[in-house]
Amino acid sequence: MDNINIRRACADDCKGILRMIKELATYEKLGDDVHLTEQELRQDGFGDRVFYQCFVAELKSKETDEASSPQGDSLVGFAMFYFVYDPWTGRSICLEDFYVMRAHRGQGIGSEILKLVSQVAVESRCSVMTFLVAEWNADSIEFYRRRGAVNCTASEGWHVYNITRQSLQEIASDQKPWRDVVVQA
Ligand code: ACO
Repeated sequence: MDNINIRRACADDCKGILRMIKELATYEKLGDDVHLTEQELRQDGFGDRVFYQCFVAELKSKETDEASSPQGDSLVGFAMFYFVYDPWTGRSICLEDFYVMRAHRGQGIGSEILKLVSQVAVESRCSVMTFLVAEWNADSIEFYRRRGAVNCTASEGWHVYNITRQSLQEIASDQKPWRDVVVQA
């Protein structure tokens, strides 16, 4: 951990973050499904409207010298999260992606990153942190369970649904523009 700096991400980290998003997707056996570009990641995290936040872990050593290492290669872990709103309990936080490169696992980096995300959640008055974890990912399930996570899959009985962009377009096309929907006095 002496050689690791954990901090908030900045726009220039997007290259390294995208690399790690792809590595996590490969780990989760979904490697081909990452279509996001570095430019979108920059715009969505550091543009006019912020859609996500990130903490990153980077190597402090001379290996990370920009001259000897392509930009983004010094990053070895990250957590991406955003706020969501629960109509029963109010503010909550969603941990979307959480990853430490294999060679750097088991040194406390993940715990430190999770500590920071938890601080943001508590300071922001969030009542809960939610996340999805693959049912086969026993190591991570144990990691979360040891930190108090409770599996709500069976007890709450929810199914996770997606509506694809194509279906959204079909639904939306039949409606007047939402900006024109005014509140009636
Ligand atoms: N690899 C992993 N864990 C190890 C290892 C090792 N080689 N050796 C020991 N451990 C133990 C540690 O002692 C520690 O035990 P504890 O829970 O009792 O404290 C725990 O495993 C790891 O703790 P940290 O070192 O703080 O965490 P790490 O830096 O390894 O990061 C993480 C944890 C992010 C889950 C990491 O293992 C990882 O990237 N896993 C693969 C990707 C993944 O499954 N991510 C989560 C998906 S779910 C989501 O994204 C919402």
